[in-house]
Amino acid sequence: AFDLRNRSFIKELDFTPGELGHLVELAAELKAERRAGTERPRLTGRAVALVFGKTSTRTRCAFEVAAYEQGAHTTYLGPGDSQLGHKESVADTARVLGRMYDGIEYRGGDHADVEELAALAGVPVWNGLSDSWHPTQTLADVLTMKEHAGRPLREVSFAYLGDGRNNMGHSLLVTGAMFGMDVRVVAPKALWPDAGLAVGPAEELAAATGARITVTDDVIEGVKGVDFLYTDVWVSLGEPAEVWDERIKLLLPYQVNDAVVRATGNPSVRFMHCLPAFHDRRTRIGREIFDRTGLDALEVTGAVFDSPRSIVFDQAENRLHAVKAVMVATLGSR
Ligand code: CP
Ligand code: NVA
Repeated sequence: AFDLRNRSFIKELDFTPGELGHLVELAAELKAERRAGTERPRLTGRAVALVFGKTSTRTRCAFEVAAYEQGAHTTYLGPGDSQLGHKESVADTARVLGRMYDGIEYRGGDHADVEELAALAGVPVWNGLSDSWHPTQTLADVLTMKEHAGRPLREVSFAYLGDGRNNMGHSLLVTGAMFGMDVRVVAPKALWPDAGLAVGPAEELAAATGARITVTDDVIEGVKGVDFLYTDVWVSLGEPAEVWDERIKLLLPYQVNDAVVRATGNPSVRFMHCLPAFHDRRTRIGREIFDRTGLDALEVTGAVFDSPRSIVFDQAENRLHAVKAVMVATLGSR
């Protein structure tokens, strides 16, 4: 049995593969319970703070609904809603919130901020995305891959195409390594995952779990035979708009489109994306970029995004179950 009570959930590497596997299993159990209409609240009387220094749809809503369904109260502090950042430090905020709340979700930029919050709050802190890691996303993604593959994760392969240096590149690489998967990061060399932060640890883990780790700039080689193609936005939250043109130049060859789907050689390959995605004109930023560049899609084409092989909304739903598992496991029962 795994006892994760009073632990923070800051990055995957803080956990053993067994502990992370336990969280995925708990998420699946909670999902089944919810579907059966037999969900039992385990967080009654608890209060959690949801602190967002950046905007969010999925992460915020997953925490709010998960807390509600488990009986906990939430306080949402959005970007600019509290003193944090402009007139109060992360350190002081941590010590204040820790006196009032049983757990704190935090979405910030610099990964050191969420680490500091966790070190000083005295209650579990859950990382709702930092510049380096997005662990509640990968937990949901692993659950989604397990559901769709229908076989053990150590027999499953995926290729992540695009910005290998962002939070998703790092988190997917390390998580795949922990679950013994065949993990490929397919990106131009300039955007390969950080060696010290993620590639080194992933290779070390692979030696123990049997994972196969590939980091390559060769799309054809990288996607060959994979079960899942995964991509993410080319410019992340907090990065300046000026980097778009450079990223588009670097990453257009890594767009997930029909040619890449064919290159997998796997007729039932599935498409994944943590969302939000730039695949059509229905966003302001997307329209501006498409008008300026003459492109009509960025990291993924509309044809792939809207195809039956796309499981992006299953991933989004699983954010709820994954986040619920994290809160239930770390806050436990009184
Ligand atoms: N995938 C994800 O974290 O989405 P949000 O930014 O909407 O929370
Ligand atoms: N890399 C993206 C992930 C969004 C869920 C970002 O940080 O904006």
